[in-house]
Amino acid sequence: MTTGRAHEAEGPWGLRKLEWARAYMPVLAGIRERFVRDRPLAGQRIAMSLHLEAKTAMLAWLLVDGGAEVAITSSNPLSAQDDVAAALAETGVSVHARRGLSDEEYDRLHHRVLDIEPTLIVDDGSELVSRLVGTRRALAPGIRGGTEETTTGVTRLRALVAAGALPFPMVAVNDAAMKHLFDNRYGTGQSTWDAILRHTNLTVAGATVVVAGYGWCGRGVAERARGLGARVIVTEVEPVRANEALMDGHRVMPMADAAREAQFVVTCTGCRDVVRPEHLAVMRDGVVLANAGHFDVEVDVAWLKQAAVAREPGRDADVVSYRLADGRRRVVLADGRLVNLAGGDGHPVEIMDLTFGLQALTLERLATGDRPPGLYPVSPLDDRAVAEARLAASGVRIDALTAEQTAYLAAF
Ligand code: ADE
Repeated sequence: MTTGRAHEAEGPWGLRKLEWARAYMPVLAGIRERFVRDRPLAGQRIAMSLHLEAKTAMLAWLLVDGGAEVAITSSNPLSAQDDVAAALAETGVSVHARRGLSDEEYDRLHHRVLDIEPTLIVDDGSELVSRLVGTRRALAPGIRGGTEETTTGVTRLRALVAAGALPFPMVAVNDAAMKHLFDNRYGTGQSTWDAILRHTNLTVAGATVVVAGYGWCGRGVAERARGLGARVIVTEVEPVRANEALMDGHRVMPMADAAREAQFVVTCTGCRDVVRPEHLAVMRDGVVLANAGHFDVEVDVAWLKQAAVAREPGRDADVVSYRLADGRRRVVLADGRLVNLAGGDGHPVEIMDLTFGLQALTLERLATGDRPPGLYPVSPLDDRAVAEARLAASGVRIDALTAEQTAYLAAF
């Protein structure tokens, strides 16, 4: 029996979300056929910290179908979807997640998934690794390796490698072509605007949108803002990216200037203190502030909370207006946390099919390999396999090099 057929009676909405996602995830479906037959993850214990929504549950199911024991928590205190968590918990996955955790509960549930004494980890933002190199060091020797989902997590892993402190191999799934070109750019672009629009019901056409950071996520958010008719301003600290934003047709300026014009601000930098008190002080009435970075450190929401003369509820629980002494409101979405997951459903289904296809293939390699500690790229074979599977599922054929072309490219 595969875990795909869950009990109908429990968590029905969560289950329907899973079944909905399943129908649009052909890459995972192809891998599942092989996993069910060959059980390449038999004997592995996998600890996962990933935003627990429907597509993530599909990955967890796939790993169970591959023979693994799986424990999962969510990689943001607000990103778990309770109906999905309930449905997943009915199917043999050990689920430690709930939406709306305190920082202490969030930490405790990360420790609960580590209690399975994992042989493999699936990490997002280095949430598990940070504990494994901290108080849970004793578990590190048992870990064959792990995968990292995000730019923020890879940045943290690089720092750990530089300090000589990464005790097992980690694979930077984020950096694979079939990940960042699609998930970070088109995924973040769509899911961020989906979350902002469903929570505000405001108009983007004709509005001034400030996008902080022009990495792959920022590029996607800026491009989708333009598609909705916005006038886009990009802020950057890196001159090459700033040039790219200019040539992509966006205005570029420091946040101190951009803040005065903004009607929406979306932070995508992965860094702290991007929107600071001096920026918040000059913003227009009703400006909407949304963060698309992993941690809630990009917008100084703590300052807004203490400086506000009034805190007014918005149109739902994820929208709060802070009125400052100047009488103007600054509207914060999802308390400055990752807006597309804390206030939305995460990236679209077909995009997570690519990312999670890479995750599954990489975990399979880690399960059978024996690598020294370090940070590794995804195998180009797996990048290509996911690209080919997606094209095949889309009914798209491409050309192949002729023998003459291959020889021409190989000759000096
Ligand atoms: N769904 C699950 N993980 C996600 C991620 N890292 N970004 C967006 N959507 C997701």
